[in-house]
Parts: sequence; structure tokens; C-alpha cells
Amino acid sequence: MRNPLSVKEPVALVTGAGPGLGGALAIALAAAGARLVICDIDPDRLNGTAEKIRSMGGEVLSLPCDVSDSAAVDAMFTQAAQHFGTVHVLVNNAALVPARPVDQQRRSEHYAYLTTPEPRRSLGFTSAMSDEEWLRFWNVNVHGVFYCTRAALRMMEPQRYGRIVNIASVAGISAMSVHSPHYSATKGAVVAFTKAMAAEVAGANIQVNAIAPGGVFTPDFEAYLQTLDEAGRNRFWQLIPAGRLGTMDEYAATVVHLACDPHYLVGQIISPNGGCVI
Ligand SMILES: NC(=O)c1ccc[n+]([C@@H]2O[C@H](COP(=O)([O-])OP(=O)(O)OC[C@H]3O[C@@H](n4cnc5c(N)ncnc54)[C@H](O)[C@@H]3O)[C@@H](O)[C@H]2O)c1
Repeated sequence: MRNPLSVKEPVALVTGAGPGLGGALAIALAAAGARLVICDIDPDRLNGTAEKIRSMGGEVLSLPCDVSDSAAVDAMFTQAAQHFGTVHVLVNNAALVPARPVDQQRRSEHYAYLTTPEPRRSLGFTSAMSDEEWLRFWNVNVHGVFYCTRAALRMMEPQRYGRIVNIASVAGISAMSVHSPHYSATKGAVVAFTKAMAAEVAGANIQVNAIAPGGVFTPDFEAYLQTLDEAGRNRFWQLIPAGRLGTMDEYAATVVHLACDPHYLVGQIISPNGGCVI
């Protein structure tokens, strides 16, 4: 197996490593030579990812973990250390994404508003937001990233080696996700945390960066596109100069680059997005 990481027998921990983007990132890191710790709040979602890594001859430890639970996160890192000795690479991928029918309805309403001549108005998404929905997203998408990062740094700082890749979103750097103001706010927080923390720890040879993906061709995004009629789908493609979503492999290539050596990227927010935000 190729091993572009400079440490011997690198260990990478990927959160939310189910059949969406997280699984693809874990598989790509295994292909790059890492031993994997994968976690998800729903451990059944990890089976396909773990099987694929094992079928490639890789080593993988699958752990159930709710990243919004600080004690559960610490316990997961303890288990990872007991099994593999340490963690060299952390990919903070787990997140709540707005995917309920009402979220999809808002998404379609927003895209139609962006691409159809119609009288200007407020879309009314923020004024309809409940405290519970706002906090639910912050607990996972921001607090979860903090808990995992803190636990990882407690291993990375003494060993003076670490690579952390946060999965933000174009939602955090633009108005592309107007339909989900709570999600956008959490991803903006991930961007700010990435930059501040990257400068804090770079002197200990810990490189922290983020990607801000545009649309990812996940099974869930594909299912959403199927709910649109042809006119709606055509409107959607107008938003992306490349005229297509990015594949999970394309996003994984960027994450593997950030997780591996050598590179001189510190605190950067790289946005593979097909040109939808330039
Ligand atoms: N799909 C896209 O178009 C897109 C675009 C931009 C950014 N992203 C980001 O990419 C990442 C992956 O998104 P995805 O589309 O694959 O979504 P997904 O829902 O398929 O994956 C998220 C995973 O996180 C897990 N998870 C949720 N809450 C958790 C918790 N509390 N603890 C542990 N695991 C938890 C879920 O079970 C799921 O397996 C997310 O950070 C998302 O914000 C996705």
C-alpha cells in the first residue's frame, strides 16, 4: 500500500463515516496507507465502509459515537489509543445536514427563487426557525467538531504531529445555503474555528485545514434531485458552472492531500465546488 504520510503506520480517525462522504474519505485514507478508526452515531452505517477497508487489506476499528457528547468522544479516543496507540489524522466529517422534507422543500424554493424571475421578498426561513432546530445543528456540527479536535490535540501535541481536516461547506463561506440558515451558521463557525486553531497549533507540526464542499454526489443528494421535475433539475444545474455535482472520490482526493505530507497549507479553506462559489 502507498504510504504518503511521513509517520510510520499512520492512524486516521474519520467521524460520520457512513455511506455518505465520510465513508468515501475513510476508504481513500485507507488506500493512502492509513489505519482507520471510523465512528458514527448509527453504527450500522459503518458496516459498508469497514467491509470495503478490510477487503482492501486495511485495518479498521469501528466505533459507535455521538460526537455531540463530550464524554463519548473522549471514550472513543481512549479506545482508539488502546487499539492503535495514537491518532495522527482527524477528519471532522460528522454533521447534521438539512434533509427533512421541509428542508428539501425550502431548498427547492430557494433554488427556484435564485433562478426564476419573480418579485423579491423574504424567503422567511430564519423567522420560522425554532430554538430546538438551531441548537440541534450547533450541538453536532460545532460542539462535535470542538470535542473531537480537543481530544485529538491531546494526542497530537505531545507527539508533535497531526493533520486535522474539517469538513465545512460552501454554506459557511457564501449564501448558497440560504434555505438552511442554522446549517450555514454552523459551517461558518467551523471555518472560523479552523483558522484560529490552525494558527494556534501549527508550531507543533499540526496542520489544520478545511474543505468547503459544494454539492456532493451522495446517495442522499441524488435522491433529492430525483424529487425535482425536469425544469427544476435544469434550474438547479444553472447554479453550478461545471454543470454537475462533485463525486465523493473528487472530494476525497482533496482531503487525502490535506491529510498527507508534504504540503504547506495551514488554516486554509479549500472549496471544491464546480465553480458555484468563486
Ligand atoms: N452532501 C453535500 O452536498 C455536502 C455539501 C457540503 C458539505 N457537506 C458536508 O459533508 C459532510 C458529510 O455529509 P454527507 O452529505 O455525507 O451527509 P450524511 O448525512 O450522509 O453523513 C453524515 C454522517 O454523520 C453521521 N452523524 C450525524 N450526527 C452524528 C453524531 N451526532 N455523531 C456521530 N455521527 C453523526 C450520520 O449518521 C451520517 O452517517 C458533512 O459535514 C456535510 O456538512 C456535504
